[in-house]
Amino acid sequence: MPGKITKAVFPAAGLGTRFLPATKAAPKEMLPIVDKPMIQYAVEEAEKSGIKEFLIITGKSKRTLEDHFDSAWELEENLKRKGKKALLREIKRLNHFHFAYIRQKAPLGLGHAILCSKPFIKDESFAVILSDDIIDPDDDLLGEMIKLYEEHEGTILALQRVPKTERHRYGIIAGNKIKKNVYEITDLVEKPKPSAAPSDIAIIGRYILTPDIFKAIETTPPGKGGEMQLTDALKTLINNNIPVYGYLFEGKRYDAGDKVGYLKATVELALKHPKIKKEFRKYLLKTLRIIHK
Ligand code: G1P
Repeated sequence: MPGKITKAVFPAAGLGTRFLPATKAAPKEMLPIVDKPMIQYAVEEAEKSGIKEFLIITGKSKRTLEDHFDSAWELEENLKRKGKKALLREIKRLNHFHFAYIRQKAPLGLGHAILCSKPFIKDESFAVILSDDIIDPDDDLLGEMIKLYEEHEGTILALQRVPKTERHRYGIIAGNKIKKNVYEITDLVEKPKPSAAPSDIAIIGRYILTPDIFKAIETTPPGKGGEMQLTDALKTLINNNIPVYGYLFEGKRYDAGDKVGYLKATVELALKHPKIKKEFRKYLLKTLRIIHK
């Protein structure tokens, strides 16, 4: 019986260049979607799947991430005095998560960020969540992946089909379908040219990794962009006959690491937000009518 997945790693040391100048001094992970920063959606998703310990891999200009999940005594007192009970509850909820932070001292790639988590993870399997891939909070992608991990006792990647024009932005897999929505992966290529993509199936930002990944990262030479690529380390696992599986996710995902994807996430999550959905829907319909004229 494989051990339970209780730890999640959130790589957050990237420079956020696609959102400059907004991310010059503020972390990309703190950009809000409606009223919550992206990292909070990721943390809440992990919490829903039974994760108990959260590790954020931070870097330069990322201190507000720690503040966000810390207690905020003055703010809490202020909300208490003003009788803003619901907001107080919401703010205090953030303090009960168990967080750790490790600093990635140089931007050497996603593989390197994961390697930085080794002292925290030790010898367990764990989840990795890339917080700029927003999964609709009504879906349970991570929960499905954990079930699959318990069945196969191996690495599980989240997958989604992407159009030809987007394949160069992702790790692309080749694999054999073993049952509905489940693949055994035979090859992976990080951000291929369209002609070199082995399929239309991309890795999206959720992974269940076994501790084998650390050695694989250490022994895999740098890849695309001279960085230590997680995708290449996963290929090393396969080359060493350690199976890697993929779960094809058919729910809603927003690539909020991209400006248009970020706006789509904002609009669609605003349309689900209990407090503003009515007013925002009215506004959107009115605006669309004007645009179509
Ligand atoms: C990373 C991975 C890539 C994966 C993507 C999912 O790329 O390297 O394989 O497809 O996340 O979002 P990044 O978006 O960090 O450039």
